[in-house]
Amino acid sequence: MKTIRVGLLGLGTVGGGTLDILQNTLPEIQCRLGQTIEVTIIAVRDLNRARSVDTTGIQMTDNTQDVVTDPDVDVVIELMGGTTLAKELLETAIKNGKHVVTANKALIAEFGNELFSLAEQHNVIIAYEAAVAGGIPVIKAVREGLAANKIEWIAGIINGTGNYILTEMKKPGADFAQVLSVAQELGYAEADPTFDVEGIDAAHKLTILASIAFGIELQFNKVYTEGISKVTAEDIRFASQLGYEIKHLGIAKRSEEGFSLRVHPTLIPKEVLIANVNGVMNAVMAYGNHVGPTMYYGPGAGAGPTASSVVADVIDVIRAQHQPKEDRVPALGFKADQMQTAPVLDIDAIDSAYYIRCFAKDHTGVLAKVTALLAQSNINIEHLHQEPCKQNRDDATLVMITDETKESNLNQALIALQALDEIVGDVMRIRVDSLGA
Ligand code: NAP
Ligand code: HSE
Repeated sequence: MKTIRVGLLGLGTVGGGTLDILQNTLPEIQCRLGQTIEVTIIAVRDLNRARSVDTTGIQMTDNTQDVVTDPDVDVVIELMGGTTLAKELLETAIKNGKHVVTANKALIAEFGNELFSLAEQHNVIIAYEAAVAGGIPVIKAVREGLAANKIEWIAGIINGTGNYILTEMKKPGADFAQVLSVAQELGYAEADPTFDVEGIDAAHKLTILASIAFGIELQFNKVYTEGISKVTAEDIRFASQLGYEIKHLGIAKRSEEGFSLRVHPTLIPKEVLIANVNGVMNAVMAYGNHVGPTMYYGPGAGAGPTASSVVADVIDVIRAQHQPKEDRVPALGFKADQMQTAPVLDIDAIDSAYYIRCFAKDHTGVLAKVTALLAQSNINIEHLHQEPCKQNRDDATLVMITDETKESNLNQALIALQALDEIVGDVMRIRVDSLGA
C-alpha cells in the first residue's frame, strides 16, 4: 500500500485531534483511500509541553521550516493559527511542491486570493474545509453539492464559541466572562477570544462562504461586523417573550445592486429551524435558485469535529493530486478567471426589521413621544412592550419590533431617539430576520 507522508504545523486542540484520527481511525481511512497516511514530522512552539496524543516515532521540532522544507513530506497540515508566520510557511510549502490543508480561516479570508494563485502556479492544492463551521462539510456542500444553482443567499451560525455563550446566557445568573472561560477550556475559542466575541472569526468565515457561493473574490475588509458583547441577558429574555431567539449570524445576500456581507446578532422567529441551534453547534443555510432553502448542521468547533474536516481534506487532496489541475475543483468553486466583480454594498443600504430596546423616564407622554418620533421617519411598530426597569424602578424599559425599513432611515431615527431628554443610557438595536420563512 502506498504511503502519503504528512507534516503537521501545530499540535494543539485541532492538531492533537488530527493526529488522534490519523492514529486511531487509520484502518477505516485506508479502506476508503487504498493508501495509507503517516505523520512523519510535527512542529510545535514548546517541545517540553505534555501532549495528550502519542508522538512516538514522529520527529518533533520547534523549527517550523523543518516541516515545510522536508523533501519527504507530501502534504503540510497547518494548524498553528495566525496570519504572519503561517502565511510565510504555507508559501514555502507551496513553492516546495507540497499540498496544503489548513483550518486557518483568518489566513484564507485575508490572504486566500494570493495563496490560491500561488498554489495554481505551483500545481498544488490548498484545502480548507475545517476553516468554516468546524465539523460540518459545508464548503464541499455549497461549492460542489450546490454547483447547479445560482446561490441567492447564505445565512449561518458560524462561530461555536458565540453560540455557546448566547445559549448559556439564557440560564438564570449566567455570567458572560465565566461562560467564555468555559468555552476556552473546551477548546472552542480562538487564541484571542475577542475574535469570537466581536464577530471577527465569523466575518472570516462569511468572507469564505460568500466567495464560494457567489464566485466573488475574498473581501474580508468589506464585511460589516458586529459582535455579541453588547447583547444582554435581558435582551435575550425580551426577544423570547416576543417569540424570537437571538443568534449571531453571518449573512451574505445577492441583490441587483450588489452583495451584502454582514455579521451581527439577529432576532430570528422561534419557529425557524436555525433559531433552535444551540451550544457549540453551527448551522449554515444556503438558498439555491433550483434547490430552494437548504441547511447544514453540526459541531462548529472543538478537536474531534474540526479534525474530522481536516482529515477529510487530506483524503480529498490525495485523491485529486494526480488530476490535471484544470480538472480539479477550483479552490473557491469558480474558475479563477471567472470571478465576479459586483460591488459589496454598505450596511446603510440594507432593508431590515429591528428590535429596539431603551430605558426611559417613566413620565406621562414619554411613550407617545417615542412612537411619534419613529412615525415621523415612517417606521411602523409591529410589537411594543413596556415594563418597569429592573435597574431603576423610576424608569421604564421600552421594547419595540419595527417593520422593515432602510438601515440609514433607522439610524437617523435612533439618533433622534437617543437625543430625547427622557431616554436613559444607550438605545440598543438588533436586526430581525425571518430568513425566508
Ligand atoms: P491551539 O490549541 O492554540 O494550537 C496551536 C498549535 O500551534 C500549538 O501546538 C502550538 O504549539 C503551535 N504553534 C503556535 N505558534 C507556533 C510557532 N510559532 N511555532 C511552532 N508551533 C507553533 O490552536 P487550535 O485551537 O488548535 O487552532 C489552530 C488553528 O485551527 C487556528 O487557525 C484556528 O483558528 C483553527 N480552528 C480552530 C478550531 C477549534 O475549535 N479550536 C476550529 C476550527 C479552526 P504549542 O503546543 O507548543 O504551544
Ligand atoms: N473559535 C471558533 C469558533 C473555532 O468558536 O467557532 C471554530 O472555527
